[in-house]
Amino acid sequence: INLMIPFFKSILSLVKFKNLNSNDFSFFIKMEVIKYQQEEIDEVKLYKDLGGALPTINSLNDLINELHVIFESNSVNVELIHYVMQSYKSKPIEWKKYAKFDRYRYTRNLVDNGNGKYNLMILCWGEGHGSAIHDHANSHCFMKMLDGSLEEIRFAWPEKEGEKLKEIRRTRLATNDVCYINDSMGLHRMENPSHVDGAISLHLYCPPYDKCTVFNQNTGQTSTSTVTFWSMYGKKRNKNLEEISTPEDN
Ligand code: SIN
Repeated sequence: INLMIPFFKSILSLVKFKNLNSNDFSFFIKMEVIKYQQEEIDEVKLYKDLGGALPTINSLNDLINELHVIFESNSVNVELIHYVMQSYKSKPIEWKKYAKFDRYRYTRNLVDNGNGKYNLMILCWGEGHGSAIHDHANSHCFMKMLDGSLEEIRFAWPEKEGEKLKEIRRTRLATNDVCYINDSMGLHRMENPSHVDGAISLHLYCPPYDKCTVFNQNTGQTSTSTVTFWSMYGKKRNKNLEEISTPEDN
């Protein structure tokens, strides 16, 4: 029996590999090209693609260091980023210095600027706080829940001018869940549905962006939103409140 189990396991992984479609081979991509659409990681395939070595992430520092290694290359394996974000198990002691809340709107708190290749940030959502419907300015967006729960509401791109945006799905994310979106997958907004608890999420955007397009749900009307940071590297910015902006709920 001990010999049979690994044998059946390898048959099962072969079947898994055979079921891959052509899109599955497209995730070794240049940072600016957006093809990755998977939300489930095929660990067996990833393990094979990386030559049999998956990174181990035991802390937020491990995650930050591993992301630096991954982004040394100009060709970024998006599935690997998803994997390392998922591997990190949230420990408040490691991120609480970045978690700064505001009473009125969610805050964006920079953790690491990824040598200009990506931004890693912690977003703090008070009770009922939400973002506006927005695109991702041609960037990849990974989001991991560190604490509490958020709802992701996804919309299709409007087909005609003046059209109401169509909701295509709603996903509730719990602590440690990871979600991924890029512009080819639609638009979204996030919301903290709780009226009693805050929520904290870790976001990675690559390449980093400081402007995105926000959409009015009823008319599809667009405007440009500049996004800034409430705090950087654990220190609150000494700027006027007006200069700090988020694509907040409209
Ligand atoms: C979100 O995905 O709703 C957060 C947007 C942001 O980065 O401010």
